[in-house]
Amino acid sequence: MSDAPSNDPVEITADAVDAAVAEALAAFAAASDTAELKAARNAHTAEGSPLARLNAQLRNVPNDQKAAFGKLVGQARGRVNQALAARETELAEAETAAKLEAERVDITALAPRTRVGARHPISLLQEEIADLFVGMGWEIAEGPELEHEWFNFDALNFAPDHPARQMQDTFLVDPVARHLVMRTHTSPVQVRSMLEREVPIYILCPGRVYRTDEFDATHLPAFTQFEGLVIDKGITMANLKGTLDHAAKVLFGAEAKTRFRTNYFPFTEPSAELDLWHPTFPGGARWIEWGGCGMVNPNVLRAAGIDPEVYSGFAFGMGIERTLMFRSDVQDMRDMAEGDVRFSEQFGMVV
Ligand code: DAH
Repeated sequence: MSDAPSNDPVEITADAVDAAVAEALAAFAAASDTAELKAARNAHTAEGSPLARLNAQLRNVPNDQKAAFGKLVGQARGRVNQALAARETELAEAETAAKLEAERVDITALAPRTRVGARHPISLLQEEIADLFVGMGWEIAEGPELEHEWFNFDALNFAPDHPARQMQDTFLVDPVARHLVMRTHTSPVQVRSMLEREVPIYILCPGRVYRTDEFDATHLPAFTQFEGLVIDKGITMANLKGTLDHAAKVLFGAEAKTRFRTNYFPFTEPSAELDLWHPTFPGGARWIEWGGCGMVNPNVLRAAGIDPEVYSGFAFGMGIERTLMFRSDVQDMRDMAEGDVRFSEQFGMVV
């Protein structure tokens, strides 16, 4: 290599010293890491380097010039060593910084974890209502959501031409000749329960129902109801009222109560619209329409093989979405259908 250090004696001159210093400084500056700097240090300060050789030459300088040349070379070596030390520090710091950066752990970052989600408020309220009736010794009954027209309408004393049977209200399921509908209410479970169970009957049936309603702030085409049915000897409307008042108090506080307004349902006689006195309604305590109820129509008892001369009963049905709306001040029913966990989370993590 042409620039390999040679051992030929060199003459000490200011130019030779400056050149050696300049080369050393350039090599240090060009070194991009401590390994390269180490190589540059060997080449420019160690044995055999131009400066070392100039230094060795001092021996041969006449005595009267030793001091001047010694100073020239000594200062040159001083500058080189200083530059080397400075570059060493600079590279070491840069390397430490790079290493720290590479090893950085962000202790403020959230650890990835599986979100647990939240139970739907309709499920929670449905269970709360079920618990309230189970607490009185009632049983939970269930029925199919795809229901035969006979259970949904005929057995409940709906006339063959009753408007509720029409497509405008009811999802009829193909082929229409099979007479299957998406149940429009939980009342068919009354009939199924009377056919399946022995009297006396005390049941609560919560479940999903379907109507060809608009999807808007107060209607959903699929929603949830709870239906109550009691069949026993000597059951009167007073039992119905007492039961509903109790349910109102459990769900809405000790001040809550219910009242009846006359109404018509094919499956109850007499029938009543049921109002709830909501003591903590956000806009102030007030009456709110809650559902329907009445004494089970003798025709319904007969359709289910129960003798209306011996047994009587009451029934009621309410919407759970509607109940949740005025119980928890939900403004738009669509929030209950859209499945956004941020909505559900507001109702807490009750399990
Ligand atoms: N099935 C009725 C509806 O969906 C609600 C209802 C009214 C249920 C009176 C009942 C009742 O059990 O007695 O509109």
